[in-house]
Amino acid sequence: MALLKSLLALAAASASLLAQTASAASSAGCGKEPTLTGTSPYSLTVNSKQRQYYIKLPPAYNNTHPYKLIFTFHALGGQASQVVAGTGGYLPWYGLPALDTDNTAIYVAPNGLNLGWGNQGGEDLAFTDAMIKTVEADLCVDTEHRYSTGFSYGASMSYAIACARAKDFRAVAVLSGGPMSGCTGGKDPIAWYNQHGVSDQVLPIALGRQMRDQYVTNNGCTKKTVPEPAKGSGTHIKTVFEGCKYPTTFVAFDGPHTPQPMDKGESKTFAADESWAFFQQFKQE
Ligand SMILES: *[C@@H]1O[C@H](CO)[C@@H](O)[C@H](O)[C@H]1NC(C)=O
Repeated sequence: MALLKSLLALAAASASLLAQTASAASSAGCGKEPTLTGTSPYSLTVNSKQRQYYIKLPPAYNNTHPYKLIFTFHALGGQASQVVAGTGGYLPWYGLPALDTDNTAIYVAPNGLNLGWGNQGGEDLAFTDAMIKTVEADLCVDTEHRYSTGFSYGASMSYAIACARAKDFRAVAVLSGGPMSGCTGGKDPIAWYNQHGVSDQVLPIALGRQMRDQYVTNNGCTKKTVPEPAKGSGTHIKTVFEGCKYPTTFVAFDGPHTPQPMDKGESKTFAADESWAFFQQFKQE
């Protein structure tokens, strides 16, 4: 009887915890007059270094509506301003806002140090934490819907986020990445998408397979043989794993180190469509 009572108390406690989590999905910035509304970069000082990031608000930003928060990290030698403008081989904000026709998200494009994401001593994760804190204090964010994507070094940074911040982020989309930003922790499950070119000469596809296998394991998916397209086939093959705690998807494409792979005869990349579809499957309450 005493056991039953304490079990009931435990159930009640976890139910109220769940209720708290649900209502905690709105950030402190909800209801506030926003200040992060400009198109110039914003600055933050993290570990005594000046860091910069750009923000893209949805058109007709509504300060009582909790938006998704999507980080878009640039590649080595790239800059956030290129991600913003859609120059230097990037689509604007990785092509996601163009697909976000319901205007569901706030986008963040941060600038790396030395044009990359070395994450020395965890400083780029600390920068990410600081951006989340600052942005969510000012803007209305659904704190259960934070996402990260990027290409190459930006993919590595998104992988580092999956490794170290799985509880803070809903999903990542890792485009031709590797472990260059490190992997602290690396054991927690998180919704995982990665894509990689079979002819990548910069970060060989073996790195993409390794990261994928790590999340197939972390997410408890059923292991299976993953097909890859033949070189010269001009195609891509998407593998959706089954039995996973969180969605887990891998795309191998016939192509090199590129943020915008295209199938033969196509004039449009599948990368933005796949990343967006992957993020979109998580419905806001
Ligand atoms: C703003 O967002 C809230 C919460 O989603 C919604 O109830 C309200 O209708 C929205 N206002 C406008 C003008 O769209």
